[in-house]
This record gives sequence, C-alpha cells and structure tokens, in this order.
Amino acid sequence: MKFKDKVVFITGGTRGLGKAMAQGFLSEGASVAVNDKDAEMVAKCAEEFKGKSLVAYTADITDYEEMESVAAKVWDAWGRVDVLINGAGVVAPLVPAEKAKKADFDRVIDVNLKGTFYVTQIFGRKMIGQKGGRIISMSSQAAVLGERGFLSYSISKAGLMTMTRNLAYEWGRYGITTCAVAPGFMAGGMNEGLLKRGDLVDFISKRTPVGKMGQVDDLVAFILFLASKEASYINGETLVFDGGATGYAPETLLDVISKGR
Ligand SMILES: NC(=O)c1ccc[n+]([C@@H]2O[C@H](COP(=O)([O-])OP(=O)(O)OC[C@H]3O[C@@H](n4cnc5c(N)ncnc54)[C@H](O)[C@@H]3O)[C@@H](O)[C@H]2O)c1
Repeated sequence: MKFKDKVVFITGGTRGLGKAMAQGFLSEGASVAVNDKDAEMVAKCAEEFKGKSLVAYTADITDYEEMESVAAKVWDAWGRVDVLINGAGVVAPLVPAEKAKKADFDRVIDVNLKGTFYVTQIFGRKMIGQKGGRIISMSSQAAVLGERGFLSYSISKAGLMTMTRNLAYEWGRYGITTCAVAPGFMAGGMNEGLLKRGDLVDFISKRTPVGKMGQVDDLVAFILFLASKEASYINGETLVFDGGATGYAPETLLDVISKGR
C-alpha cells in the first residue's frame, strides 16, 4: 500500500490511461479524485468504482472557475492533494499542417496546453500552501518527434515539457516536484480505434525497436513509480516512454549497403 493516506487528482481520469492510473493508485491505497468534461463518462466511472475511495466530477479543464470549484471540493473532502496527474488531452484530425483547421488547432492548444496550465496553477497554489506535492503531466513522444499530421498536438505537448522544466525551478522551493511523461503509441486510450487496424498496429510496432505498442499496465506502473517517494529527486524532466521509437531510424544506411542497393 504505497499510497495509503495519499490523495491523487487525475484530469480526464474517467477513461483510457487516466482511468487505468486511477485504478492503479486505488489499488495502492490512495484516495482518488477524477474529472472529465464528459458527464456521461463521469457517471459511468462513479458507478464502476462505487464503494472505492474515488470521487468523480464533471468539469472542463479549460474552464478556470469550474476547476477552482472542483479543487475547493477536493480540499473540503480530503484537505490536500499529494499528486496531480494532468491526463486530460485531445488530438486533432491528422492532416498536413497547411490543411489544419483553425478551430482544431485552437481546441488542441486550449485543452492540452492552456487547460493543463490552469489546473496546474490552481492545484499548484494549494500545494504551495500545503508545502509539497507532485505534478505529473502527460506529454507525448509527439513533443520531441517531427511527424506529419500532428502539428497542434506536438506543439501543445512540447509546451507541457517547457512548463514542466520551468515549474521545477519555480516550485521546487515549495517542496513540489514537476515531471512529465512522453509516451509513444499506447495500446489503449485514444488509440482504441487504431487498434482495430492491424496494418497500423504493424506499422507502429515495426518502427519501435522493442517491436510493439506501449502497454497500459507498464505505463501505470511507471507513473506510480514517478509519484512514489523513491522518485522524489526527479524534477523538471520529461521522461520518454516509447520502447526506443523516438530518434530511431527503422531503416539505416547499413541496411541499404548490406542489401547492395
Ligand atoms: N494513448 C496514447 O497513445 C497516448 C500517447 C501519448 C500521450 N497520451 C496522452 O495521455 C493522456 C491520456 O490519453 P488517453 O489515450 O487516455 O486519451 P483518452 O481520449 O482515452 O482520454 C482522455 C480523456 O480526457 C478527457 N478530456 C478531453 N478534454 C477535456 C477537457 N477539456 N476537460 C476535461 N476532460 C477532458 C476526455 O473526455 C477523455 O476522457 C492525453 O493527454 C494524451 O494526449 C496518450
């Protein structure tokens, strides 16, 4: 029970990776609060975790007042938050940069970057008051990899890397550490549709040195480690979690030379 008496707040925690993390923290004894903008998902999640130490709120991370009100409720209930996981995120339709629609670009930046900062500031202020806390944001491999079609998403997730580095300097003095995780393509969450396309799974696996997509359970274990006492000296870092895919050239000069091409 590594997180007994600890309180964890997870944005976008009713589905996908956030929900798996909620489950992971609960099984280690934490009290968990989640929020999601999707009221139906919130109700479903509350029902699924009935009897467990979990509360779920309907709130949009781009709405500052709404998130302030959620934070106030969490502090009323539990008096503190030890770990904030910034999990809520969206992706725009994959199109070349010159065809990206303004509305899609704005939505991705609003949610992934601006909304995540709003939540971080609201919870960060309270963590400063309680003299400590852990903030972990979900960045992405897309933040460090140039890839066609992902421009707004990449910019938003690179912004979270910079936010993480800056807040480590600003808030370390208050006992708050700030990290981010940059996963490659995970076999779950927003990729559930993609998993039905064998050709796409095959493509991703081939461009990953370990030969497969990321496993959700492994990511949850990694997040639990980052939130643990043992990881308390890791601060300001964005840790890539991608099986070695970032910076990997699936075909190299040596491959071409060996094939006599
Ligand atoms: N799945 C992957 O392969 C992968 C890889 C790298 C990074 N990530 C990041 O990890 C995080 C979780 O991804 P996932 O795969 O579980 O996605 P998901 O789509 O399954 O879950 C994201 C959740 O965020 C919620 N959300 C979206 N906008 C919101 C808002 N404005 N306010 C509150 N909630 C909102 C959604 O309703 C959803 O429940 C995201 O930030 C994503 O960008 C995912």
